[in-house]
Amino acid sequence: MSTSTIILSFSFLFSVLAPITLSELCNPQDKRVLLQLKKDLNNPYLLASWNPDTGCCGWYCVTCDPITHRINSLTIFAGQLSAQIPPAVGDLLYLETLEFHKLSNLTGPIQPTIAKLTNLKSLTLSFTNLSGPVPDFLAQLKNLTDLDLSFNSLSGSIPPSLSQLLHLRFIHLDRNKLTGPIPESFGFFNQVPAPDLYLSHNQLSGKIPVSLGNLKTITVIDLSRNKLEGDASLLFGSDKKLRTLDLSRNVLEFDLSKVEIPERITLLDLSHNKVYGSLPKDLIALDLYLLNVSYNRLCGQIPVGGKLQSFEIYEYFHNKCLCGAPLPSCK
Ligand SMILES: *[C@@H]1O[C@H](CO)[C@@H](O)[C@H](O)[C@H]1NC(C)=O
Ligand SMILES: *[C@@H]1O[C@H](CO)[C@@H](O)[C@H](O)[C@H]1NC(C)=O
Ligand SMILES: *[C@@H]1O[C@H](CO)[C@@H](O)[C@H](O)[C@H]1NC(C)=O
Ligand SMILES: *[C@@H]1O[C@H](CO)[C@@H](O)[C@H](O)[C@H]1NC(C)=O
Repeated sequence: MSTSTIILSFSFLFSVLAPITLSELCNPQDKRVLLQLKKDLNNPYLLASWNPDTGCCGWYCVTCDPITHRINSLTIFAGQLSAQIPPAVGDLLYLETLEFHKLSNLTGPIQPTIAKLTNLKSLTLSFTNLSGPVPDFLAQLKNLTDLDLSFNSLSGSIPPSLSQLLHLRFIHLDRNKLTGPIPESFGFFNQVPAPDLYLSHNQLSGKIPVSLGNLKTITVIDLSRNKLEGDASLLFGSDKKLRTLDLSRNVLEFDLSKVEIPERITLLDLSHNKVYGSLPKDLIALDLYLLNVSYNRLCGQIPVGGKLQSFEIYEYFHNKCLCGAPLPSCK
């Protein structure tokens, strides 16, 4: 036999044997749980491949760990599915990734049995119609690195306990109906860098906690479109690593002339607030991709240089007496 014939025969054998091998490796307990899940999700077409006669490691929307052969990922994405998250999901104890995404008819609360999934590294429940609170039990999922609960109908306040998650790289709670203040504990994330914070498009209110000024290593803070008031100057400082700071559409009120702009910042949106004072001169030294200070109470001349004259009047207009290019020249 020639080498190529041998290789061909081997690949033929593998293509025949692989599915059988996978099915034998499917953990029977995991298979039972998945079939229960399918039933509780009302047998959606998306899960048609979840056939009891085949091995669960080959089913759509799941993966098995290559060594333990336990289900380590469940990712249900963009299907026709009208249900709540079933309690059985909490019995997939080896899950490291759990995702329900783009399912507008997924309703009800964040399933409490998710608290049992202590191996989770990534939890994504986004673009669904989940409601109720952001549960306190998330703080028990100590291995979480990625938490995305954006684009849902979650309400209530943000649990302060989330700051106990010391491996988090980002927190997406944006586009919900969250109320109350930003927890003071969010200034005490111990990891470096501190997790990126996306809290926009909610109804968060009160002052930005002074503790947030501690977050020297954080790179993204998006608090836009809330009802936050008072001082935000504590987020600034030349010792900060911020790249994106979006505070637009709040009721923040502070003197911009008094802050030092973090030197790595590329996006700074302060539009639609009550910011006063004048634009700091250090803005000209920065590699800005977007600057928006429109609809505030700023005054004085726009510093000349850097990127500042490359932005349009819409990034500067509707201030008290801001002037100079690209706005009309100062009198
Ligand atoms: C959601 O449910 C409504 C009403 O039952 C139905 O018309 C719609 O097609 C469903 N959408 C999805 C994405 O499942
Ligand atoms: C979400 O559910 C509410 C009722 O609970 C309903 O009025 C709304 O249309 C749903 N939204 C989507 C995007 O399906
Ligand atoms: C976190 O993951 C490590 C391995 O990466 C594991 O040993 C540990 O048990 C996990 N922690 C929890 C609380 O499950
Ligand atoms: C800046 O904000 C104003 C007011 O909301 C808006 O009209 C403009 O499009 C924004 N510019 C950019 C580049 O986001």
